[in-house]
Amino acid sequence: MTTLLALPEKPRVLPGCELYGYETLFDELSYWIKPENIVGEIPAGLEGTLYMNCPGRNRIGEQQYGHWFDGDGMISAVTIKGGRVHYKNRYVRTPKFVNETAAQKILYRGVGTQIPGGILKNMFRMPGNAANTSVILHGGKLLALWEGGKPYELDPATLETVGEYRYEGALTAAQPFSAHPRLDPRTGMLYNFGVFGVPKPKLHFYRIDPGGAMVDNVSQYVGDYSMVHDFAITERHAVFILCPAFMRTPFKFVLGARSIFESIEFDNSRNTKVVVLELATGKLVREYEFEGFFGFHIGNAHEHGDNISVDALCVKNMDVMGGLADVFAERGDDFKFLANGARFTRFTMNLASGAQHQALVEGSIAGEFPSWNPRFTGRENRYTWLSTIIENGTPYSFNAVQKVDHQTGELKVFDFGAGRFSSEVNFIPHGKDATEDEGYLISIVYNHARKKSEVVIVDAGDMRTEIAVIPLEHHVPFGFHGGFYSETFV
Ligand SMILES: [Fe+2]
Repeated sequence: MTTLLALPEKPRVLPGCELYGYETLFDELSYWIKPENIVGEIPAGLEGTLYMNCPGRNRIGEQQYGHWFDGDGMISAVTIKGGRVHYKNRYVRTPKFVNETAAQKILYRGVGTQIPGGILKNMFRMPGNAANTSVILHGGKLLALWEGGKPYELDPATLETVGEYRYEGALTAAQPFSAHPRLDPRTGMLYNFGVFGVPKPKLHFYRIDPGGAMVDNVSQYVGDYSMVHDFAITERHAVFILCPAFMRTPFKFVLGARSIFESIEFDNSRNTKVVVLELATGKLVREYEFEGFFGFHIGNAHEHGDNISVDALCVKNMDVMGGLADVFAERGDDFKFLANGARFTRFTMNLASGAQHQALVEGSIAGEFPSWNPRFTGRENRYTWLSTIIENGTPYSFNAVQKVDHQTGELKVFDFGAGRFSSEVNFIPHGKDATEDEGYLISIVYNHARKKSEVVIVDAGDMRTEIAVIPLEHHVPFGFHGGFYSETFV
């Protein structure tokens, strides 16, 4: 039974009110939030740390980076302990951050940034690791992630940078470690991948045991697909969705004439390929082809008999990359590049017969950043939460969260309200015995009225109750990914 949601269309107000949320935060801070400033109540028993990563510094000196994805990684740690809340942030000390800070100008190429000064300044230079995409705590290590390079190890308490991390040498010099690893909640195993190689990119697949040791590292060629951002796991398989984005002119990138993003082209004459690997060995099991689409993010996946189902956010082409290059300028009505109509789609494939099927997830509306109860990673989940843009008067960035019920097709939407914008929203389960949607949604929300951010906790079940609003003393630049962990370090 589908419940149609009739959100009232509201006239647009406050154009550009999201823009300060993209501004650089130069300060590195550490402080307790005054309890009297918290609106609502921190749920009893809720303790842990929310780590989030964002491109916190989007300009250096007088120069702005050529793409939002090239800002320097800044980690936020929001610690909830004994009913109190602590905030800390710190930049990842990559060579790019350290050297550009000293020089106060752009010294490194990015994925969409060229070093000012022409071709010779860029020739034969690879992009600098910005460590700006995600952050995970696994095997006792806190790691800032960026899909084109190595992780950076950080101190979980101080957020100070320990250095580039190669899993005791298990990652070779040419192997990147993507920003979208998946943790199997039954085994504690962490799986991840990296794609690298010009003109023949290889898919590198990694397995890391609960203690943090890389126990498998398998490389293979699965096609000339140049850009893979995310993947999924089931109980026995890994699922990759390879969109038809190809580096057709690698020499222009290598010789310094074009950035990586300018060199990758979407080919709408080619299909999107889904590749299934065996989780235990990394061996190729089967491939499928669907009509071409592009997407950054994949939801959960599961297997049932010989079938594998995977949910993914799909758009028709890669135009979104252009929109994300310059999120710093007012766009008027051209805000939809962010969600860009990304539709949540389920792909089902039979491993024995090769039969395949795709259908929109019933009830869902356009969204991004899928989140689910992590206890269900790799198993069938009933609920997915996604950041969303609704017509609440300020539809200029993610201003709402949708909750999709895969069983009934029912849709529930939580509206942050005019002038309030989130990035990724993370689900925190109530506890081991709680039902799947008993828990909280936690996110860092930019509030235009205060020109500052606040940590917001919402009831993930009813999607109506804003349980707590924890005001910060500054804004936190919009960012990408992170996670909530039960450990605390303050
Ligand atoms: Fe991502």
